[in-house]
Amino acid sequence: MAPIALVEAKTPAVATQDEVLKKKDLGQIEVLDLPQLYTRPSYLTLTHLLHNLALPPPSWDAPANAPVADPKGLTKYLTTIISSPLKWLADDSEREQIWDLASARLSERCGRSARGDMSRTFRIPLGDGEETEVRIFEPSLTEDQLGLKTWGSAYSLCKRLPELYGEGKLVPRCEAGEKALELGSGTGLLGIGWAGVTGMGTVLTDLPEIEANLRRNVEDNRDDVAGVMEVGVLDWTRNGEATIGMGRYRVVLAADPIYSKEHPGWLVGVVVERLERREGARFVLEIPIREGYSWERDEVRRLLEEGGLEVVGEGRGVGRDDWGGGEVEGWWSVWTWKKECLE
Ligand SMILES: C[S@@+](CC[C@H](N)C(=O)[O-])C[C@H]1O[C@@H](n2cnc3c(N)ncnc32)[C@H](O)[C@@H]1O
Repeated sequence: MAPIALVEAKTPAVATQDEVLKKKDLGQIEVLDLPQLYTRPSYLTLTHLLHNLALPPPSWDAPANAPVADPKGLTKYLTTIISSPLKWLADDSEREQIWDLASARLSERCGRSARGDMSRTFRIPLGDGEETEVRIFEPSLTEDQLGLKTWGSAYSLCKRLPELYGEGKLVPRCEAGEKALELGSGTGLLGIGWAGVTGMGTVLTDLPEIEANLRRNVEDNRDDVAGVMEVGVLDWTRNGEATIGMGRYRVVLAADPIYSKEHPGWLVGVVVERLERREGARFVLEIPIREGYSWERDEVRRLLEEGGLEVVGEGRGVGRDDWGGGEVEGWWSVWTWKKECLE
């Protein structure tokens, strides 16, 4: 008996790749449009389709309620591909590629924690209608490292910088050679944005396990940013052992640095040690207003005041978050030394 040839059956009602792309943008894909596995779609059909189904990194510039291209049934469709032996494909390498692509598309639809590495672009206003783009790499969150993703407060503060920094503003323009220090930089968005908007030399710091990715992001943006950037380790519990320039700074920055009972004390301890004790010195902070963290926020204010600082300006802003896709309110504030604490 002649062997039965495994030919690709006709795939009725399968949308063209262009149609799938267009529908993906509108969040309108019908799972029935997609090539069903019983029709034995070819390797080429499946690779094109799975590339087209890629979701872009979540954007914080889109409206919070923008449609998500994640129709019901698509995750089931992707799971079916992953669990299928795909016997009609030519060899194992083709099968492996299709399974890998389907797994990647599935994890993109399972929330931020499941998503793999991603490179994102943030648009930061420079003032006078100009903008710059900051490119940030976020590795997949396989470990519980909060500094490997970008948090809404960093972005919200970056967007506010032209309003805060400059002649007659809350943070007076800096002289040549004056530097800024960022604490808990994470992926570096705020520090890089600061160096770009102000042109100041900026030192970005975090814990040892966050340093490599922070350094990578600083290098990726160095050529497009006016201020000279440096990176190092500064653990708030070991301020004296920092690997980067010791001493005091004209500006200290921090975004979303408080998420345990110990953090207010540790953070404020470093601010008091590292902020220059002269007029014009400023500590710039944004903390998201998360439910259940009001004690920590009040404690930051109390400790800063007790440490000799006073607020020169503060307010509320709206940030974004990858978790749940919603908007998060933030408290921004700018601090300086009380007169009696100046040197
Ligand atoms: C919620 S993340 C915010 C990161 C970044 N500022 C942002 O807004 O995207 C908090 C950051 O504080 C850092 N951090 C926590 N404890 C620290 C400590 N003891 N010393 C230095 N950095 C610390 C974390 O590693 C992390 O990068």
